[in-house]
Amino acid sequence: MKRVLLIEDLPQVAQHLQQMLSREKEAELVGVEKESDSAIARVNTEKPDVVMIDALLQGKSTGFDIAKRVRAASPGTRIIIVTVPQRPVDPKPDLGIDAVFVLPGGANELASALAVGKREIRLKGRMIVCYSPKGGSGKTTIAVNLATILRRRGNSVALMDGVMQFGSIRHVLQVPPATRSIVDLPTGQGMRTSLSEVLWEGPSGVAVLLGPPRPEEAELMAAPDVATAMQLLAEDHDYVIVDAPTKLSDESLAVLDAADVILLIVTYMQASVANTRAAVDTFEALGYKGTKPILLVVNQSDSAAGMSKGGIEHTLNLPVVAEIPTDWKVVSESLNKQQPFVLSSPNSAVAKAMEGLASTLVQQQRR
Ligand SMILES: Nc1ncnc2c1ncn2[C@@H]1O[C@H](COP(=O)(O)OP(=O)(O)O)[C@@H](O)[C@H]1O
Ligand SMILES: [Mg+2]
Repeated sequence: MKRVLLIEDLPQVAQHLQQMLSREKEAELVGVEKESDSAIARVNTEKPDVVMIDALLQGKSTGFDIAKRVRAASPGTRIIIVTVPQRPVDPKPDLGIDAVFVLPGGANELASALAVGKREIRLKGRMIVCYSPKGGSGKTTIAVNLATILRRRGNSVALMDGVMQFGSIRHVLQVPPATRSIVDLPTGQGMRTSLSEVLWEGPSGVAVLLGPPRPEEAELMAAPDVATAMQLLAEDHDYVIVDAPTKLSDESLAVLDAADVILLIVTYMQASVANTRAAVDTFEALGYKGTKPILLVVNQSDSAAGMSKGGIEHTLNLPVVAEIPTDWKVVSESLNKQQPFVLSSPNSAVAKAMEGLASTLVQQQRR
């Protein structure tokens, strides 16, 4: 039995497809959504076997845009694009089109569209995304050090700069100026074959995928390509650690949709907690809750300014998995050396706290 989600804004067409699906023994309709955000939220909660998307959807996103987001959010879900004879569409799995159903269509056509082989994307690694709605919270610092620790413990690890404009991973590590980046990757299927050629071997052998070197190149990167790169990295690394952009945009949502775990970096400051609350509300609206762990990491936790771990957990209704203290000396030395502090000062309290975070994440995965 295949669980089918329908994304259709025209009531007559939705009704027609609903009737056809009700006659199809192998299919069970799990819902009908009219626009992209609610559709993606539904995909996140239901993980349907199949989504049928109208190519001619009205509104801000086309059916093809939604298909790419569905692919990023749930790679195992097959996508059938629904179209009319005047607007032929070809199946293109790279673009999130596994099969095409032409209206009005018959029962046989529907059955063969539904029968298109389940996509076998086996994600090996765990995608951990570091996110914070406030710049300067420590996303980059935590991503780089976490990746290094997991690598030192014998895992294969990829570290990806998910910030397409003014990313900072290249600046905190000793990256030679001409090192290739995500913009040097072809889009679509070619990305898989070229990925290894653009990875840079970073500290302790972490495979680093850099963001574009120049700000104007950010526009060359489409949100689904960023998510695809992340998923391809997960195919041959145990962990993929992503430094996500602060702004909630198509790009960051594609990265967050694909994440297995979201680490929300907060500080004990009112602005940080309030903005994090707003981000958490957005995550709830997107249906993340219950589908992937959202874990709080308090950075610079010694500057408590009247706030406590319990208070923040209560306000945000999420668990704090680590408190990372402030150490200007150790952190600035590590920046000068362009080396993660877990390597340059492994015995410092900040490094120990990062080790604790890594252990908690590994344990949490086992559960
Ligand atoms: N625990 C810490 N102790 C001392 N300095 C820190 C700590 N965490 C981050 N920093 C410093 O604060 C600044 C902002 O951190 P960064 O990781 O770049 O934040 P983000 O990526 O969220 O913008 C950087 O200069 C970084 O070195
Ligand atoms: Mg940063």
